[in-house]
Amino acid sequence: MSWKSLFRPPPESSFAAANLAGSYLRKGGKLPVLVVVVSVFIFAAVMYGEDMRSLAEYSWWRYKAVYAADYIPSDVSVPETCDLSDGDWVFDESYPPYREDSCEFLSKQVSCLQNGRPESKYQKWRWQPKNCSLPRFDARRMLEWLRGKRMLFVGDSINRNQWESMVCLMQMVVPRGRRSRIVDGSRMIFPIKEYRASIEFYWAPFLVESNSDAPEFHSIPVRIINPDTVEKHAVHWKGADVLVFNSYIWWMNDPQMKVLRPGAKNWTEHDEIGREEAYERVLRTVFDWVDQSLNPNTSSVFFMSMSPLHGSAMDWGNPDGIKCAKETELIWNMTGVQVGTEMNLWALAREVTGSTVHVPVTFIDITAMSERRKDAHTSVYTMQQGKLLTPEQKANPAKFADCLHWCVPGLPDTWNQLLFAEILSRRPRQPH
Ligand SMILES: *[C@@H]1O[C@H](CO)[C@@H](O)[C@H](O)[C@H]1NC(C)=O
Ligand SMILES: *[C@@H]1O[C@H](CO)[C@@H](O)[C@H](O)[C@H]1NC(C)=O
Ligand SMILES: *[C@@H]1O[C@H](CO)[C@@H](O)[C@H](O)[C@H]1NC(C)=O
Ligand SMILES: *[C@@H]1O[C@H](CO)[C@@H](O)[C@H](O)[C@H]1NC(C)=O
Repeated sequence: MSWKSLFRPPPESSFAAANLAGSYLRKGGKLPVLVVVVSVFIFAAVMYGEDMRSLAEYSWWRYKAVYAADYIPSDVSVPETCDLSDGDWVFDESYPPYREDSCEFLSKQVSCLQNGRPESKYQKWRWQPKNCSLPRFDARRMLEWLRGKRMLFVGDSINRNQWESMVCLMQMVVPRGRRSRIVDGSRMIFPIKEYRASIEFYWAPFLVESNSDAPEFHSIPVRIINPDTVEKHAVHWKGADVLVFNSYIWWMNDPQMKVLRPGAKNWTEHDEIGREEAYERVLRTVFDWVDQSLNPNTSSVFFMSMSPLHGSAMDWGNPDGIKCAKETELIWNMTGVQVGTEMNLWALAREVTGSTVHVPVTFIDITAMSERRKDAHTSVYTMQQGKLLTPEQKANPAKFADCLHWCVPGLPDTWNQLLFAEILSRRPRQPH
């Protein structure tokens, strides 16, 4: 499916009601508005067979999003010198930005409350950088910015976790009857038709071609990558205006990586090389492609840093803990605490993303802030192999707790808040 075919331009007539009403309002007209709106509705409903409800909702939406008098665009400027990754978590009763049960496309995998998590304190933390404030996520502002753009998250299930959060944050400004989600092979698409925009996820856990690229059934025990080839995936990234990459957890299985031999005919012909060497080769392949294939004038490219795991409660000195299960507090004092994040990969990613020449890539550092969030994982309030955990499985967190993925709403909303701030404040790439 091509991106363009998603968006047939809406018929001009369906804009009429909202536009007329909007222009009357701007000119200070009062009485005629109702008459015009009602007659245009009836006319359009009769002429074009549009169902009245969706037409009303549609005009309401345009009015609300674009002309609403009470809407004051928030200040999104962030000083160039402010390091957004250095800060503290602050308890804030006004969070979360949306309710879990209000997000209709949220997957069961991350709907922790629905899956029985008994408390929701993990939803109430706001990230406060040391030197500035992080702008609140302003969905209307983001929507205006996204007009005519295709935003694409590319990576593994953690990036899908973040994409789901982005869809939840954005769906609030799309009227209920006009929300949809399309699954198309390796892609999941949240189209916002009236804005000719879309927010998409593309499954490519190693970014480059691998034997684990099937969108379903990809949990292959022997994972093999082709570190020098990205075309197979990249053809689907062409035309994206915003690209948000990640790749980390799939690298953590084995310190050795199986890589395809140059000129190999099938996946059986492979060698083993060190994880770091393979990771660097992969990132160079991907960001060389980015640098050479994207238009620097119209593209915004981001790389999300390592999302940490919380697999051993002894890491934060809790001898009674079992992985991240039952953790409801943050790690407040990180001095001497190591949760096992592979910081060599972090450093490589920062270096390679910082080395493009034509297309700047912004490295968004979520690692340190996320390391403190042992409370924010899905733990046993999730599903495995397509099924919710049974009570017996929930009672066995040592085996079944998922301390990789994150509840939504939750931590991934903060990652998107950082992404939002970087996009709208248009800071130059941070030197390092
Ligand atoms: C805070 O800002 C000042 C000046 O704007 C800068 O010198 C300093 O390095 C910044 N500190 C942090 C932690 O971002
Ligand atoms: C893979 O290639 C090797 C060498 O060319 C060949 O011996 C083997 O039969 C191939 N395996 C498959 C599954 O095609
Ligand atoms: C980008 O913008 C510059 C300056 O406006 C222009 O010279 C250049 O041709 C543009 N590049 C592309 C690929 O459109
Ligand atoms: C943090 O932990 C370190 C090492 O355990 C300790 O020396 C330090 O006093 C603690 N800091 C605070 C603020 O509690």
